[in-house]
Amino acid sequence: MIETWQADAIVLFGATGDLSHRMLLPSLYYLDADGFLPADFKVLATARARHTREEFVAEVKALLAARSEGLDAQVWERFAARLDFTAADATTEAGARTLAPMLEGVRAPIFYLALSPSLYGRVCGAMAASGLAHARTRIVLEKPIGRDLASSQEINAAVGAVFEEEQIFRIDHYLGKETVQNLIALRFANTLFEPLWNNLTIDHVQITVAETEGVGDRWPYYDEYGALRDMLQNHMLQLLCLVAMEPPADMEPRSVRNEKVKVLRSLRPFTRLDAQNWSIRGQYAPGVVGGKQVKGYETERGQASGTETFVALRADIDNWRWAGVPFFLRTGKRLPERRTQIAIQFKPVPHSIFDGQAKEDLTANRLVIDLQPDEDIELTLMNKAPGISAGGMRLQALPLSLSLLRAYEGPGARRRIAYERLLLDAINGNSTLFVRRDEVEEAWRWIDGVADAWREAGLTPKPYAAGSWGPAGAFALIERAGRAWYD
Ligand code: BG6
Repeated sequence: MIETWQADAIVLFGATGDLSHRMLLPSLYYLDADGFLPADFKVLATARARHTREEFVAEVKALLAARSEGLDAQVWERFAARLDFTAADATTEAGARTLAPMLEGVRAPIFYLALSPSLYGRVCGAMAASGLAHARTRIVLEKPIGRDLASSQEINAAVGAVFEEEQIFRIDHYLGKETVQNLIALRFANTLFEPLWNNLTIDHVQITVAETEGVGDRWPYYDEYGALRDMLQNHMLQLLCLVAMEPPADMEPRSVRNEKVKVLRSLRPFTRLDAQNWSIRGQYAPGVVGGKQVKGYETERGQASGTETFVALRADIDNWRWAGVPFFLRTGKRLPERRTQIAIQFKPVPHSIFDGQAKEDLTANRLVIDLQPDEDIELTLMNKAPGISAGGMRLQALPLSLSLLRAYEGPGARRRIAYERLLLDAINGNSTLFVRRDEVEEAWRWIDGVADAWREAGLTPKPYAAGSWGPAGAFALIERAGRAWYD
């Protein structure tokens, strides 16, 4: 049993950056509002920006007030009292030392690195040299941990030289999403699905992460990564793991993460032929999204680029449970709608007793798990169409839907930011929903194989009009396997 403890402070590195503003500070505030932060918990911030504490507090107040939920005066007073700020260059030992006064009296801090991963090694080194890193600290790292297996190993080794693996919390914010956790509940808190969750009953699985947003001014980062490394390596493979893993013995971090690693290790390596037949890269050209004319990626980038903003591929898991069940994954920017969805397509009934129209109406069951924008789990069952018809019995598909927000939290419930769950788990030392080193590295191993296969096959991104569902090849790919994208 790993010893655990409750943190009494979080130190945000990069506290004036976009992630801290949009996600981390609001999440901490909402945790406070709902009574989840320990009474003496401190929120300590640092960045290179030469702010005073007062300026920083005013900045946080303004960003919280600008959110649709508004600011509660009483909660704000409590939250503001937790805040402190010190300007520092945390990549140097001297810089790290300037944080010491702010940390006085803190026994067990969490260091949250909302920084470029290229700085992780240096920041950890500075923490070690200045004495900030000790046995009662945790460190939270954002993705991307590297750009390939080699660079990821390098970062993991640099962080691992200072912190034990149990102290390292690698965030994949998809694991904090309500419906992603619900997938675990759905699979392992019901007897209904698990006996059917295999290649005898399931025909194929589709995972779609569609975004309407473009890359915009994030291109300096994005152009080096592309959709394969930005989305598929982490968020989408995590979703795939949760769908495909064997039942863990319990919810302990080691149990769940062991099962996910087994899935990653069972992914069939991509070959040059797979690259040609079972994958497609796309890049958005100008088009119309949500009624608005938008630029193409290369115009945003300011020059020609070989980076994909769309990828679709077929993954196969070579084990007993999933042999013969393709997993179709697709993700892209500037698609017609925002949609994150897992669709489990069951096989048709082995023999139809119906004839006439009923036989034609008969379609196979499907379980669709919507993560965003709406959270829903929908199971489509066949039933008899009500009434009588001249041609005999008719069947109809009946979607059974659990509209989750309504089902669990009542009308008007606030939708939580994925980071709230994860920050709370980090405070309490529960790493089940964080990514272990071997998981990140196994995922990179497979993704490196895809990137190599693309290179060998000379696969370049095909243009698609912004506002479309990607290049035509994405449809050809799934049709080649005798299936179609679900929409
Ligand atoms: C991030 C990617 O990890 O996830 C972004 O870097 C992407 O490119 C984002 O837009 C999507 O997250 P969400 O929660 O909005 O689906």
